[in-house]
Amino acid sequence: MKGILLAGGNGTRLLPLTLVGSKQLAPVYDKPMVYYPLSVLMLTGIDDVLIIARPAEIGLFRKLFGDGSRLGMRIDYAPQEQPQGIADAFLVGARHIKGEDCALILGDNLFHGARLPSLLRRTVRELRGCALFGHQVAEPRHFGVAEIDAKGQLISIEEKPDHPRSNLAIPGLYFFDDTVTDVARGLRPSVRGELEITDVLRAYLAEGRADLVWLGRGVTWLDAGTHESLLDAGRFVRDIQHRQGICLGCIEEIAMYMGFIDAEACYRLGAEMKSSPYGQYVMRSARAHQLNPTPSKFLEE
Ligand code: TTP
Repeated sequence: MKGILLAGGNGTRLLPLTLVGSKQLAPVYDKPMVYYPLSVLMLTGIDDVLIIARPAEIGLFRKLFGDGSRLGMRIDYAPQEQPQGIADAFLVGARHIKGEDCALILGDNLFHGARLPSLLRRTVRELRGCALFGHQVAEPRHFGVAEIDAKGQLISIEEKPDHPRSNLAIPGLYFFDDTVTDVARGLRPSVRGELEITDVLRAYLAEGRADLVWLGRGVTWLDAGTHESLLDAGRFVRDIQHRQGICLGCIEEIAMYMGFIDAEACYRLGAEMKSSPYGQYVMRSARAHQLNPTPSKFLEE
C-alpha cells in the first residue's frame, strides 16, 4: 500500500504563523507537526510515501526527510500548485499511487493510542473499497460527520453540518483501493471550488464500498489547524511524554520497530541529535532494543 501525506493548503487560520512557513512544519512540542501523520503511515506498515506540499515549501520537507532511505523508506515529493481540495491529492499523486491501494493522511492530524497500530493494520487487511474512521467529538459541526444505522453501518456523510446527525467526526485519515484515482477524476469542484474528500467517500458509499471504523475511547485524535488546537496538541504531547517517558511521533524509533532500519542505524540517527532530549531518547530506545529485541511494542494485537 502507498501513502500520501497532504501537507499543502493555505493555513489561513494560523496566520501570521503561516505567512512564510508551512503549517505542517510548525512545532508540536518537540518536533515538526508532519512527524505525527508520517508516523501513523509508518505504523500502518507503509514505507513508500508521497508528501504533497506548496511549491515554495517542498524543499523544506525534502531537507527534513531526504529520499527517506535513512528511515528505510522511500519518500517522494510533489507540489500542489493551488490548494484545490483534499481530493486533489489523488490527481497530484496519481503517478505515485499507480494502481495500488493507498492511504491518505492530512498533515495536521495527530493520532495516539495503544491499539491504533493494530487497528490500522486490520483496517488495511479488510479493505474492500474505502475505509474511513469515526471519532466521537463534542462539537461535530466543525467536521465531516458520519451517520450510522443501528448496526453501526455507514449511511451518510455530511460536511460541517449545522444540524449533525451524530457526534461521529471523520478524521483526516482514509484508506482506498486502487480505483480512487478514477473516482477523483470524475469529481466536479464544489461550490468552494475544491475537490472534496467527502465526495470521494460518498462515491464509494453509493456503491456500498465504504466502511466506517470506530476509533474508540482509547484513541485520541487531534488536529492542529488553529492557534488554540496547535497549543493543545503541543501540551498533549508534552504531558504524555513527560508522564510516561515515551516519545510520540518518533519516526526513527518507529522505523526501527517496524523493521525498516536496524537498531544500529536508529542509534546513529539519534546520535546526530544527541544534544536534544529527542536525540537522546532515540539513542536510548535503540540501545534498549539491542539489549532486548522484543518483536515490537507497536505491533501488539
Ligand atoms: P484545512 O485545514 O482544511 O485547510 P488549510 O490547511 O488550508 O487551513 P485553513 O483552513 O486555516 O486555511 O486542510 C486540511 C489539511 O489538508 C491541511 O494539512 C492542509 C491540507 N490541504 C492541502 O494540502 N491542500 C488543499 O488543497 C487543502 C484544501 C488542504
